[in-house]
Amino acid sequence: MQISPSILSADFANLERELGRISNADWAHVDVMDGHFVPNLTLGLPVVEALARVSAVPLDCHLMIDDPDRWAPQYAEAGAGSVTFHVEAARDPRAVARALRSAGARAGLALKPGTAFPPYEELLPDLDMVLVMTVEPGFGGQSFMADQLPKVAQVRQAVRDHGGEIWVQVDGGVSAGTIEQCAEAGADVFVAGSAVYGADDAAQAVEHLRALATAHCHSR
Ligand code: DX5
Ligand code: ZN
Repeated sequence: MQISPSILSADFANLERELGRISNADWAHVDVMDGHFVPNLTLGLPVVEALARVSAVPLDCHLMIDDPDRWAPQYAEAGAGSVTFHVEAARDPRAVARALRSAGARAGLALKPGTAFPPYEELLPDLDMVLVMTVEPGFGGQSFMADQLPKVAQVRQAVRDHGGEIWVQVDGGVSAGTIEQCAEAGADVFVAGSAVYGADDAAQAVEHLRALATAHCHSR
């Protein structure tokens, strides 16, 4: 069970220090938004390159951008350990996933709440992770959408049937109050922004979330 704190809720004026607050996490989740795919604009390649230089934990880049076919591999080259793109934005998702792996990153496929998983099950051989969004992408601090849990369970079942080592990530509204149901549904990588960076002791929040998830682990 892995915790990936989202720096979207961190102090953008002090990102190196903010990464230092979560050095016990498994990943640092970096939300890249382009102002087109989602109605918000955050950061891009130069900032990801800089974060990769100073982060003690690998970067888990979540690309909420148009045209990942063009841009996604560059995030792998910039040093991200995992790069997740949205299937809704990709022209050729399989090619994007393969390009990410060739560039040395884990390949993740993200689904917005309104996007069904079954049409994409055939992509599993080229994927390392499936991200089930539990809010509409674009902003931190939104309420968890429990109606996405059946999709988490559906993806977990498909991953089990497929037999590979593919992670199932949830992102949006994940907190001490919601992480257990995510773990029970079959998630094994948990993004948490406000629940970690809103805490006085971010590292302790990471430990607490990991302990709750581990106690409700249904992913194997
Ligand atoms: C939303 C982002 C999330 C966001 C989560 O579009 O993808 O990663 O930072 O924030 P919380 O955990 O506060 O919902
Ligand atoms: Zn995210």
